[in-house]
Amino acid sequence: MEDFILQMQNITKTFPGVKALDNVSFDVRRGEIHALVGENGAGKSTLMKVLSGIHVYGTYEGNIVYNGEIQKFRSTRDSEHAGIAIINQELALCTNLNIAESIFLGNEIKNKQGIINWPETYKRTSEALERVHLSINPETKVLSLGVGQMQLLEIAKAISKNARLLILDEPTAALTDDESARLLSLIREFRSEGVTCIYISHKLDEVMSIADTITVLRDGQTVITKARNEITKSEMISYMVGRSLTQMFPRREHHPGEVLFEMKDWSVDHPQIKDKEVLHNININVRRGEIVGIAGLMGAGRTELMMSLIGAYGNNIRGQAYYNGEKIEIHSSEDAIKNGICYVSEDRKRYGLILMQDIRFNVSLPVLQRLSKGGVIDDNELLKEVAEYVTALNVKTPSLEQLTRNLSGGNMQKVVLAKWLMTHPTVLIMDEPTRGIDVGAKVEIYNIMNDLVDKGMSVIMISSELPEVLGMSDRIYVMHEGSITGELDYRDATQELVMEYCTGEKHMNKNN
Ligand SMILES: Nc1ncnc2c1ncn2[C@@H]1O[C@H](COP(=O)(O)OP(=O)(O)OP(=O)(O)O)[C@@H](O)[C@H]1O
Ligand SMILES: [Mg+2]
Repeated sequence: MEDFILQMQNITKTFPGVKALDNVSFDVRRGEIHALVGENGAGKSTLMKVLSGIHVYGTYEGNIVYNGEIQKFRSTRDSEHAGIAIINQELALCTNLNIAESIFLGNEIKNKQGIINWPETYKRTSEALERVHLSINPETKVLSLGVGQMQLLEIAKAISKNARLLILDEPTAALTDDESARLLSLIREFRSEGVTCIYISHKLDEVMSIADTITVLRDGQTVITKARNEITKSEMISYMVGRSLTQMFPRREHHPGEVLFEMKDWSVDHPQIKDKEVLHNININVRRGEIVGIAGLMGAGRTELMMSLIGAYGNNIRGQAYYNGEKIEIHSSEDAIKNGICYVSEDRKRYGLILMQDIRFNVSLPVLQRLSKGGVIDDNELLKEVAEYVTALNVKTPSLEQLTRNLSGGNMQKVVLAKWLMTHPTVLIMDEPTRGIDVGAKVEIYNIMNDLVDKGMSVIMISSELPEVLGMSDRIYVMHEGSITGELDYRDATQELVMEYCTGEKHMNKNN
């Protein structure tokens, strides 16, 4: 008989106006890595929240059979107690704590008098960090960790609670290739120790490399469960989107015109460290009707370049920006928008959305001025435009009045994009535009980028995904340690070549 650690039976979960899960059954064998894939809004995170007691017993229909018994989890504490740990899509670490405090938050090690036993806490923290191969002082503030380290810390936290079933919801979305590889090997290590893992990801290559079994969800229903070696990547995609995708990167012939936007001799001082530069003498430009990609490893300075453009580094900047040949001064994102330049941040939670407000409010925000005449907003026009972009981007929602906090991760990202497209920018700077977005929606976003440049707009795309950079850009700049190390026409670019510039092995201003 097969040994299932988990059987979710006929699970149905509804939210006002949305049937997120529609009679889903989902079985997981003990000790396997089971990937859960599907489009944005398919119901993956919801299914895992039901399993882990975030959506409590009584708010869904169906049964959770775990270790042979029906479970009635009323909190994550209950599911943790049973050996289930979930690492959510949107990380939930309390960042003002240090590592040890964060790991044992709500689970403090106390002596008989109820006083926290710090030596023991730090010892156990060190052990937990060792399990995830994170060599770092337990007193380090969580705030100062990178995304990759935070992800490992979350896992350390789960493991320290003796989890036997580990749920990872898009753990590598914000990680570099290196960090992802480390995480994947760690998960394999846990498997060899008998830990079962449910793994959600939009990175299908990753899924193919790590999963033993794959389940595809679509529109709140299970489409299929297959052993990894019985399914191909393109089959998986067609199960996800309900059609086959012939072309991942819809490359179109662009006809770049004159230079529209330019940054010259751009240098930025380190905000804290004297005499240290974050960016050194950057020169980049983008033409009308052109997509320019900026490649680089995490920490290469790509986001800093764009954040410094919109005033995030105050006066620590030297250099000039030009729009249409004229020098422009930008000190804020409002200034940028006035100049037709719009920066779509990579960090949607922090800079992108007001989560307690609905889609309509969020998307309207940057354009209230444009659409108001004499202080009165043209509501009809506003609503029409909002609906237009929300439809074009295929945002999955029952209505425009849905609070953005209730959207799935990928749909939040689309709303951010819709919001910025509303400003009708002529230079659109997109930082990791398809992070966490499903394959079908990725192609939609690429098509939108192509449409924009067809109309004569310029797009600058920062991306850590090389296939995306190579597939979409007309021209590519590569950054390494705060400098531009290479500039390539797409026809000359290969993954290997771009990587050589990314690592600084090749440098256009040095002879090699
Ligand atoms: N708290 C909530 N209130 C209302 N609707 C919700 C809530 N949580 C999820 N939904 C809706 O349920 C559906 C499934 O969302 P879910 O987050 O499970 O998708 P997902 O498969 O994880 O997508 P993604 O890949 O974008 O993360 C979506 O339509 C979403 O808007
Ligand atoms: Mg999700």
